[in-house]
Amino acid sequence: MTTTSTLIKQRSLLGLKELSKEEITSILDRAAYWEASSNKLNPVLHEKFVANMFFENSTRTRFSFEVAEKRLGAQVLNFSAAVSSVQKGESIYDTVRTLESMGIDAGIIRLKPNGVLAELSEKIKVPLINAGDGNNEHPTQGLLDLYTMRKQFGELKGLTVTIIGDVLHSRVARSNLYALQKFGANVQFCSPDNLRAPELNAPYVTMEEALRSDVVMMLRVQLERHEGGMMGPAEAYREQFGLTEERAATIVPHAIIMHPAPINRGVEIDDAVIESPQSRIFPQMENGVPIRMAVIERALA
Ligand code: CP
Repeated sequence: MTTTSTLIKQRSLLGLKELSKEEITSILDRAAYWEASSNKLNPVLHEKFVANMFFENSTRTRFSFEVAEKRLGAQVLNFSAAVSSVQKGESIYDTVRTLESMGIDAGIIRLKPNGVLAELSEKIKVPLINAGDGNNEHPTQGLLDLYTMRKQFGELKGLTVTIIGDVLHSRVARSNLYALQKFGANVQFCSPDNLRAPELNAPYVTMEEALRSDVVMMLRVQLERHEGGMMGPAEAYREQFGLTEERAATIVPHAIIMHPAPINRGVEIDDAVIESPQSRIFPQMENGVPIRMAVIERALA
């Protein structure tokens, strides 16, 4: 491997599984620096071009990357599959290669299929940042989740974090699991039998046990990835695995409630819980900006 390709790999962010605890800490610390900055604009990347390439829908990730890029002064190109030549049958590789040919310095990329990002990263010669690939990883979501927990509790070691819901289809669950275990957090899952991911190294607990956690992390039921009505009736799911108002009232006083969003209101979480005092759902979104500033800066500065 040449020095250049090693550098590109080091600056890319494909997942948290392969990232060391020290590298994660360094990104969290840098995010804290950007969060504390009193300047909205810090144009340290004003000569850099960044392409946001979303081949799957997004609101939070896409716009927080764009805000982060603009706050760092980068030149931003927004690619949207729905209005691109993808509609004429152009491949993901040809699309990314096209933007690379035009001189982008880094690419933010969200993809539906698993495995494509890893292949792209072998061929594309600019740093790539994973904005969510299939059910594999969503590293910047994992980072902003760790950042939110660290802000709340000071440290991650010893925290009990229960991730509840559609673990099978969740890249958020995977990125959180990989990263939190590096810091000595106790990660556990709670999920219906048919939405479990047995290959992941964490125990499953009951809903009653889940409610005794320091962090109660709800997952979106990803209906668009389900085959043949995997969830069953929404009301039955809510009764068994939803964070209802009644259940939320029983969590420990110091606990926080998280959800990556978008949210199926009234299915995995009740309306009244979403902005309750123990919820950190909107602060998670707020924390996404400094985290993504740190990640883009790491790729380009
Ligand atoms: N949490 C998250 O990835 O949200 P979006 O799909 O809206 O980006």
